Order: sequence, then C-alpha cells, then structure tokens
Amino acid sequence: MKAIAINSSPNMEKGNTAVILDPFLEGMREAGAEVEVFYTKKLDVKPCQGEYNCWLKTPGACFQKDDMEWLLPKFGEADVQVLATPLYVDGMAGPMKNLLDRRIPLVHPFFELRDGHIRHPRRGDRHATKVVLVSNCGFWEKDNFDALVVHMEAICRNMGAEFAGALLRPQGPAMKPMLEIGGLVEDVIEAARDAGRQLVRDGAIRQETLDTVSRDLMPLEDYMKMANQSFQQALDALPAS
Ligand SMILES: Cc1cc2nc3c(=O)[nH]c(=O)nc-3n(C[C@H](O)[C@H](O)[C@H](O)COP(=O)(O)O)c2cc1C
Repeated sequence: MKAIAINSSPNMEKGNTAVILDPFLEGMREAGAEVEVFYTKKLDVKPCQGEYNCWLKTPGACFQKDDMEWLLPKFGEADVQVLATPLYVDGMAGPMKNLLDRRIPLVHPFFELRDGHIRHPRRGDRHATKVVLVSNCGFWEKDNFDALVVHMEAICRNMGAEFAGALLRPQGPAMKPMLEIGGLVEDVIEAARDAGRQLVRDGAIRQETLDTVSRDLMPLEDYMKMANQSFQQALDALPAS
C-alpha cells in the first residue's frame, strides 16, 4: 500500500497537527504501508489560474512549472491520501486548499452521472483512493470541525475517492504540555497510531478509536482558563514600550 501525506501546518513537524499525524503515519508504516510526507510550507505550489489548459490544451498537465509537476503523479499512484491541516477560520489552511485545487488535472473535463450527480471522470483506470483527514484546532468543542468534515466529504465525492475517516483533535494546543507532564494523553497518541494500523490492515478505522483521538482532555472551563493564562503570560513577557 502506497500513501501520500500532506501536512499544511506552517509549524510543520513541530506543530500540533503533527502531534496526531506523526503517530498515525507510524502506525501505517508498522502495518506495512509505504508512506511519504510533504509539508506545503516547503513546496512551491502556485494557485490554480483557472484557464483550463490542463483539460483542453495539455490534457492532464498544468502549464505552471512548480512542485505539482512531480507531486501530482504521486497523488495519482497513492492508495491512501492523508490530508492534515490545522483548522483555520473554520476550514482547511489556505495552502492545503491551494494544493487540492491543483489536482484538477487528475480528472477529465467531461461530465458523467455518478450516484445521480454530475461528476468528472477520473483519468486512467486506477482504483479509487482512500482519503483520511487529520486536523486539530484551538477551540474546545469538536463541532468546530463540522464544516471541514463536510467539505472533505464533498471533495472525496467529487474526486471519486473514498472518505475513510477523520482524526480530529479539538483542544489541540493542550496536547504537547500534557505529553510533557506524562501519563495524561498517551492513550490519544496510541489511538492515532492504532488508527494507522487499522487503516492498512482492515481498510477502515474503528469509530471508537477515532473517538479516543478526539476525547476531551479537560473540562471546558479549565481549558479556557489555561488558554487565557498562557495568552496573558505571553503578553506580559513583551518588553514594555
Ligand atoms: C489564522 C488562524 C486561524 C485559526 N482559526 C481557528 C478556528 O477557526 N477554530 C479553532 O478552533 N482554532 C483556530 N485556530 C487555532 C489553530 O487551529 C490551532 O492553534 C492549532 O493547534 C494549530 O496547529 P499547528 O500547531 O499544527 O499549526 C486558528 C489559528 C490561526 C493561526
């Protein structure tokens, strides 16, 4: 099984998104998957220019010369795509959307009816790929991810991919300090790792495993207090002007 993972956090491997993404990918590798990870911050991916060259003048290829030239075939070959993003303004981070827009050359311009809905046929005769969403956010409530999950499900339907589940981590910024203390959130990390193993081994991730990844870390009032204290400390540490 070949997997491609994209992490669109500007904090890359040091960010809170990676706290969940990395063990998930470790679990996939443990179960035998070949996984490549890319950070949008390190990629040169220009925005789609909307001129449809990739459908009409040079079918399957964008006219822009940037990292999508070698990244696009990797999407085409992957059995699993892991799309990891911090929640930004109730959705995916801009660089992730930018990159997903540039995958349009993977489909034909023609319309076809799939499940009673107009879609574009995929190029080539390859099987449908599975997509896993990994996200974390700063607010406490899990419903902050609702719009992102609906968006990702729609993208999968449109691209003819199978949405294989979402590892969602509200209260994301609390994970690292709690890991440093030890004994508080190791089950969350282990669930993320197990989710990776399950996906490769069974082709699906159990809901109870996803629920553990998203479980509350502390009561809402404590989380608010902790967040406000740490913002206040950061402001107090500024040199007096
Ligand atoms: C521009 C921006 C927008 C954000 N929007 C939201 C949001 O809508 N909801 C939320 O819960 N957190 C929001 N956050 C908080 C991030 O999701 C949170 O800090 C997350 O842990 C960052 O992940 P990272 O460390 O991998 O970059 C936002 C942060 C930034 C910088």
